[in-house]
Amino acid sequence: MSCLPRNSQGCPTLFLAPMEGVGDKPFRKAMAAIGGFDQASTEFLRVPINAHCASLAKVYDSKEIPPFPLAAQIMGSDPILMADMARELKKRGAPRIDINCGCPSNTVTGKGAGSSLLKTPDALHEIARAVVNAVKVPVTLKKRIGYSDTTLFKENLHAAVSSGIKFLTLHPRTKEDGYGPPARWEFIAEAKANIDIPLVGNGDILSVNDATRMLEYTKCDALMIGRGAVGNPFIFHQIKAHFSNQSYSITKEGWQLFFDTFESELIGPERSKINKFKQILSYALRGHERKSDVMTYQATQLSSFKEVILPLFYQLKSLS
Ligand SMILES: Cc1cc2nc3c(=O)[nH]c(=O)nc-3n(C[C@H](O)[C@H](O)[C@H](O)COP(=O)(O)O)c2cc1C
Repeated sequence: MSCLPRNSQGCPTLFLAPMEGVGDKPFRKAMAAIGGFDQASTEFLRVPINAHCASLAKVYDSKEIPPFPLAAQIMGSDPILMADMARELKKRGAPRIDINCGCPSNTVTGKGAGSSLLKTPDALHEIARAVVNAVKVPVTLKKRIGYSDTTLFKENLHAAVSSGIKFLTLHPRTKEDGYGPPARWEFIAEAKANIDIPLVGNGDILSVNDATRMLEYTKCDALMIGRGAVGNPFIFHQIKAHFSNQSYSITKEGWQLFFDTFESELIGPERSKINKFKQILSYALRGHERKSDVMTYQATQLSSFKEVILPLFYQLKSLS
């Protein structure tokens, strides 16, 4: 049986995407409070040259969002250190180790990790192989379709799959694409036709309709959603409901639970807490004509920000 089975209603496994700086612990906790997804992953944990992995691994908490499994994602360029980090994370209870071959950040790629690995399929393979050999838990890999172009697309697929990873997640943009142009789902379809391990499709799923279109068009085995879940944390419930022939109504109470949990996990000065709220609201009000009213509202305390902004938010979302 596939390691990514569909549920009894035929819904594929749904992953909450790793999102450094956005999908961090408060967001994951808030998502776990409302549920709907099946698995999540941390944002990338850097494994720099000279890393002391036992210390670095301490940021990972396998019991952060029970009952949801939380994989640990690692990013680095040294196979020995990556293997070492995987072992440390496994000791801390990681149910799966995911290797990042997609991060476009120059501060990272300058050191030959993340999407830089897509320039050298041999190095990608060597790292993935070292991690697979280091731990008994499943190792997976998340990648883009290339660095500046897609000429090495098939070589990178082969390099990843032949390392022994359990499944692959594909975000179908190149590093040069960043997050801008539409995700090129045709590459997910091409990958599916060329590999014999499960494939997770990712990129630009903003609605139930996008989810079903991606499944039909690419034939991928499972779905991963990032920004679509920040804008609509209930999207996983909506997809599951679709497969059960039911409808899912987003309620004010649902958002309240999400926001309350999110707030309870925020740390630091009030200003940064307000900015974290604004970050979520910015995704959730994407394209709304009154979004700027929310984004420009000034307050010194999160409580006074919420007092004004959340009633407006519910009003804009037509939730009473
Ligand atoms: C703010 C932000 C941070 C991200 N951080 C990570 C990360 O740490 N690891 C990773 O593999 N992908 C990361 N990604 C990429 C997402 O996981 C995902 O592949 C991408 O956003 C496309 O999916 P989406 O259209 O559903 O958002 C990040 C994306 C965003 C927008």
